[in-house]
Amino acid sequence: MSATNERFSEDERRNEPVDITAEATAALAGARESTDDAPDDARPFEINVADRIKKLPPYLFAELNALKYAKRRSGADVVDLGMGSPTDPPDQKVIDKLGEAILNPKVHGYGAARGIANLRREIASRYLKYYGVRLNPETETMATLGSKDALSHTILALCGPGDLAIVPSPYFPAHLYAVMLAGGETLALDVRDPDRLLGEIAYACERFLPRPKMVLVNFPHNPTATVVEREFYVDLVKLAKKYGFMVLSDLAYADITFDGYKTPSFLSVPGAIDVGVEMTTTSKSYSMAGWRIGFCCGNSEIVRALATIKTYYDYGAFVPLQIAGIVAIRELDAYVVNQAKIYERRRDVLCDALERIGWEVVRPKASMFVWQKIPEKYLKDCNTFEFAMRLLSDANVVVSPGSAFGPLGEGYLRLAVVENEDRLRQGVRQIGRALN
Ligand SMILES: Cc1ncc(COP(=O)(O)O)c(C=O)c1O
Repeated sequence: MSATNERFSEDERRNEPVDITAEATAALAGARESTDDAPDDARPFEINVADRIKKLPPYLFAELNALKYAKRRSGADVVDLGMGSPTDPPDQKVIDKLGEAILNPKVHGYGAARGIANLRREIASRYLKYYGVRLNPETETMATLGSKDALSHTILALCGPGDLAIVPSPYFPAHLYAVMLAGGETLALDVRDPDRLLGEIAYACERFLPRPKMVLVNFPHNPTATVVEREFYVDLVKLAKKYGFMVLSDLAYADITFDGYKTPSFLSVPGAIDVGVEMTTTSKSYSMAGWRIGFCCGNSEIVRALATIKTYYDYGAFVPLQIAGIVAIRELDAYVVNQAKIYERRRDVLCDALERIGWEVVRPKASMFVWQKIPEKYLKDCNTFEFAMRLLSDANVVVSPGSAFGPLGEGYLRLAVVENEDRLRQGVRQIGRALN
């Protein structure tokens, strides 16, 4: 039975039941006959994936990862500064809580798609404590399977064919491709000078058709570690109201800040809740990346749209994880502060070591990354990706090539401070030796 549009009656298109039994039975009989006759060596069945998958670029890290695993299999000691995945364990308290919660026979069923009420109350309390923002846990918060889940499904809920979204560039791939997967168009704007970014957003709203429907911001920024002050969001909210775009703020690295810098929340600005939402996560601050506990907070209409989409996709995180997540958010402020200090020391160790081998370094004020310009002499006979491959093959150090984050990343490397201080020193020594 072919499923072309003409095959479906008006009733079917309206999803109303119709009696197609007789016709379908005849079609099935025909199909059986022709299958009986089919030769065994018929053409292999072709899996034709959707265009949205075909449009995605090849995964740039595949080659790097293959070489990394091959090296490790052969016994090489690889220093891995590739992914922003914390390697320190979470606090013992959350692990103990998870162990305790999982023993309760009542926690193994489906959870609530929006997250359990106590977890939502906890994230609302954290917003009040950290940013002075009052949120209604019922309508203005939602727990998700990490902030990437929150981001991509909020984008799916807000954006479709014919819609234009502004995303940061260089880009964390999920920011750009979540819009593309939702069928929308993207305008990727350089975020390294936030004042200039505001001007370019305004320009795009004046000149582009369709007008941007949504602006995604991410400060502290992955990969460049660019940060903003609260004033940035004051201006962004003014622009959002003037031009009618929604704002999504990705605050994944909110707590990993250095030298006294404090990350402002977009939601702390008057009027922000009228225009947008903010995504947060336990992945980085609490070293719980694999637990998949994140949040979308802010505008109740947007939160509701996300909740609607997600009821079709999942049932929320495993309840014991959510219960342990409550303990993390309620009791582990000191852990968060201590982790930031650990990352700060690692940042200094890494930057000092890079300076010792003669590289010019910009010390980030936040995030888990050093966004490092590659000295030009190394790019005479190779591109950024090839240089990153060379660091792995000759120095046994994994770094992310800036080009994995779009054209503005050409000429840069992203180094994640996820190894300990000794290993960071060792990695840079190996780089220095391999390049000389
Ligand atoms: C900017 C940014 N947003 C979101 C995420 C995803 O975090 P989560 O583990 O909460 O899904 C990451 C992870 O690397 C990230 O770098």
